[in-house]
Amino acid sequence: MTQSISTNAKVWLITGTSSGFGRELAEQLLGAGEKVVATARKTETIADLAETHPDTALVVALDVTKEETIEAALKAALDKFGRVDVLVNNAGYGLAGAVEEATEAEFMPVFETNVFGLIRTTRAFLPQFRKQKSGSIVNLSSIGGLIGSPGWGYYNASKFAVNGFSEALAAEMALLGVHVMIVEPGPFRTEFLGSSGKEAEERIADYDETAGKTRQYFQEQSGKQPGDPVKAVKAIIDAVNAAEPPKHLVLGKLAFDRMQARLEVWKKDLAAWETTSLGADFDKADAAAGQAAYADTRQAGKA
Ligand SMILES: NC(=O)c1ccc[n+]([C@@H]2O[C@H](COP(=O)([O-])OP(=O)(O)OC[C@H]3O[C@@H](n4cnc5c(N)ncnc54)[C@H](OP(=O)(O)O)[C@@H]3O)[C@@H](O)[C@H]2O)c1
Repeated sequence: MTQSISTNAKVWLITGTSSGFGRELAEQLLGAGEKVVATARKTETIADLAETHPDTALVVALDVTKEETIEAALKAALDKFGRVDVLVNNAGYGLAGAVEEATEAEFMPVFETNVFGLIRTTRAFLPQFRKQKSGSIVNLSSIGGLIGSPGWGYYNASKFAVNGFSEALAAEMALLGVHVMIVEPGPFRTEFLGSSGKEAEERIADYDETAGKTRQYFQEQSGKQPGDPVKAVKAIIDAVNAAEPPKHLVLGKLAFDRMQARLEVWKKDLAAWETTSLGADFDKADAAAGQAAYADTRQAGKA
């Protein structure tokens, strides 16, 4: 199917488009006449996108753990489309298992992909975004990047890192005309619990009631998650195109309810310990200058 190219079309580059959110995003965008640089570790999984949309789709190999493939993808995108308006850092996967059960050989690659891969890709694109003084960076985190759960320690840590990195980046890029949005989905029906999911090999019976339940969930719930990737992707596109895009886009009722409950717990803890919190500074006169200087750094990027 060939398609007329809209002159207002944005150029999107997406990592991890072989399945799940990434694939769905590429398909919806191409269907809407947008220009898409679809990337994957194995390009044969996405070759059909370029065949059906020869003018608006570019298929490029990109493994977020391999710097040279990121540089090559950026160059290919600029050669074909001249700019990149939206970078979607989507590639990532989960590892189930208790903190003590997972080995370094199992958890380091989670960070290599979910954290350092995302950072590496983002940094490669920042000079182009600064040059354009416009655009969006969309980082896939998770409700697990805001709230930790038993059996998800390393995945939680990787996605919390994505949130921290993205919030700082958002504050730096806002004045340069670039918006950073963090997507925080709950459970969605992709390959996340299927072919992409990993489990720690070692099992320790003492964790059966905690991480063990997560493992059971992992094994039994693939394909039964309540979240619909088609609707999630539509929501992401709408949010990117909104006049005032959110900083955090929480997706799915499970994630929304958990976040609401978490905010209540945080509010309660803050209120209950307010006197202790406020009492930890030097006395008023001594602390005032330091507090003002700190507030000034927060103000710069509206953080
Ligand atoms: N689905 C959920 O419930 C859920 C919830 C919260 C957050 N998320 C996040 O959403 C993002 C997308 O996941 P998904 O749910 O769509 O799962 P998915 O269907 O498993 O898709 C993950 C994608 O990441 C790619 N990928 C993995 N390692 C990569 C690497 N080193 N370089 C490039 N691509 C790589 C995979 O490609 P290969 O085919 O080559 O492995 C695949 O295309 C992830 O960051 C995930 O953590 C998902």
